[in-house]
Amino acid sequence: MIIATTIAEVRAQVREWKQAGLTVGLVPTMGYLHEGHAKLIDQAISMCQRVVVSTFVNPTQFAPNEDLDSYPRDFDRDCALLRAHGCSMVFYPLVSEMYEPDAATYVEILSEMPKQLCGKTRPTHFRGVCTVVSKLFNIVTPDKAFFGQKDAQQLAIIRRMVRDMSYNIEIVGCPIVREEDGLAKSSRNTYLNTEERQAALILSKSIFLGQKLVAEGETNANKIIDAIVTNICTEPLARIDYVAVVDGITMMPVKKITDNVLVAMAVYIGKTRLIDNFIVEG
Ligand code: PAF
Repeated sequence: MIIATTIAEVRAQVREWKQAGLTVGLVPTMGYLHEGHAKLIDQAISMCQRVVVSTFVNPTQFAPNEDLDSYPRDFDRDCALLRAHGCSMVFYPLVSEMYEPDAATYVEILSEMPKQLCGKTRPTHFRGVCTVVSKLFNIVTPDKAFFGQKDAQQLAIIRRMVRDMSYNIEIVGCPIVREEDGLAKSSRNTYLNTEERQAALILSKSIFLGQKLVAEGETNANKIIDAIVTNICTEPLARIDYVAVVDGITMMPVKKITDNVLVAMAVYIGKTRLIDNFIVEG
């Protein structure tokens, strides 16, 4: 596996691969990789001849009060996982490689979409995500890029950015990966102490409850929200940020459950903010 820390190294290697007629996949991550990332990488490897994984904790998507400094990092462990899964190149740049000190250009979707769900409490988050993903697309120029469905709003926003900016990149969404007891895998799960880890199960339990109600034929979005909220409130360590039912493409609230509706939540367990969701499929 090639370890690249500069944009120039990535460009030179990708140029070589492309001259040899090989397809290139990109899996953007912030490192501290877990089984969820591993599934993205496996998917990328099954669809592309060379796979680049970026592990960059992107400062522009964190607000000043958020966990940029404490965000977990372990590059050696990441490399071991990446090698085991057959990654061709890891891109591990310093912040100074990605952002000039006077960088002042952002990529931002100026619609209501990034203001919904996580955008309500994280108003600058998706601007940072779009900016860094756009830079990674320009650096790696992949044929396909792979994102997890756990960050459903991020995935929808990236698809919209790719459409609006005419990137010639196929975006592949990959299913949520869960721990055996149901908790969605996340690098932030490491913040939870033993009691909080147990309490965090209220998210997946509420997701499964919502799925059951939909499977039983409930089509009233408010009833689904009420049932989920009531369930989360049974957990004393949980504090709801949002529970919402939105259109799976536009992220705008809907009243009726139909195909491609997204049921999503963000819940604080102690100080840790966790997200989970499901898509209604026909
Ligand atoms: O989902 C993430 O880990 C990040 O938001 C991403 C897409 C790597 C951009 O920094």
